[in-house]
Amino acid sequence: MTGDGCPVSARAAAIRPFLVMEVLERAQALEREGREIIHLEVGEPDFETPECIREAGIRAIREGETRYTHSLGLLELRETICEDYRREYGVEITPDRILVTSGTSPAMFLLFGALLDPGDEVVMADPHYACHPSFVEFVGGKCVYVLVGEADGFQLHAGEIRARLTPRTKGILVNSPANPTGNLLSAEHMAAIAGLGRCVISDEIYHGLVYAGRARSILEFTENAFVLNGFSKKYAMTGWRLGYVIAPPRFVRPMQKLQQNFLISAGSIPQHAALAGLREAAPDVARMVGLYDERRRFMVRRLRELGFGIPVEPTGAFYVLANARHIDADSHRLAFDILEKAGVAVTPGIDFGKNAEGYLRFSYANSLERIAAAMDRLAAYLRQQRG
Ligand SMILES: Cc1ncc(COP(=O)(O)O)c(C=O)c1O
Repeated sequence: MTGDGCPVSARAAAIRPFLVMEVLERAQALEREGREIIHLEVGEPDFETPECIREAGIRAIREGETRYTHSLGLLELRETICEDYRREYGVEITPDRILVTSGTSPAMFLLFGALLDPGDEVVMADPHYACHPSFVEFVGGKCVYVLVGEADGFQLHAGEIRARLTPRTKGILVNSPANPTGNLLSAEHMAAIAGLGRCVISDEIYHGLVYAGRARSILEFTENAFVLNGFSKKYAMTGWRLGYVIAPPRFVRPMQKLQQNFLISAGSIPQHAALAGLREAAPDVARMVGLYDERRRFMVRRLRELGFGIPVEPTGAFYVLANARHIDADSHRLAFDILEKAGVAVTPGIDFGKNAEGYLRFSYANSLERIAAAMDRLAAYLRQQRG
């Protein structure tokens, strides 16, 4: 049979590429040609996983913890996640409401797979994390966007959401601290969103990376919520692949069945390592947060000096979403031009929704020295543009 006789599924064909990966791949091609690139595009901690976590992983291998675990995840890990949420947010959850997965990304598959029928709607902000709509749409759901703006730090307003609720609305997706804006949703906004009476899906993966104020869990405001969380960002564990979802009780069994069929269980070694992270890595996290904060302040100041628009200072995650419309309203063209001419890799805003067109996302998950060098290169690039 020819290739034409066997087309890829419409569902797979409709998936957008994750542009940040395309920037990264072009940057790597330039590096192979001998160019020296500064990476401010990827959303990944530059730190190594803390020693205590790595040691726990090694110990788990030595002790033969090499088998499938319970499909919901190790009970001890789920109990420790409950303690963590009690300590951090004062909320009471039980281990039978937690499903541990190989990263937050698979958790989204299970969650939306259990929540959405074809045509069901999920309301979310634009800009949003690039992959959130892909998960919703892959299982047949429909995204309904609320435009959020830089003037108030990209706050998601309950009134705007209310105007878009329909009988098909199955959930409202929030993400605070947010990718790509780095902003926190205020407690008032979270309470108002919870008050809309619909199920809220709260992606809390950047909790722990907060430099002013406090990240609030959606569970402080409503029980009618799913929490997505994981170890990639706070514990610098992207390569270990571990995350979890806290679900309303009626959704646990359906999600567990999806996990049993499609994924079986999360990896046993990452689960043992993550347990050590929750118990022992607080000093390591504090050190990383201190360094991120120093870089954040420096980057925001330098980008503002260079004329990028950042009306509200981002205080979470490790991103700055900066308005670059005055340089070029086409963020894809601008990001690739900066990469080719200045050797600085940044992510085009369009990756995060139509409303982020004209913006660039800068990640400060890189050393202060490299960020400083990147800012100098950008300054030279902008001089040349004006030139
Ligand atoms: C908001 C958000 N959610 C989820 C993820 C995926 O994380 P994981 O590594 O746990 O799959 C990312 C990764 O960048 C993210 O930014």
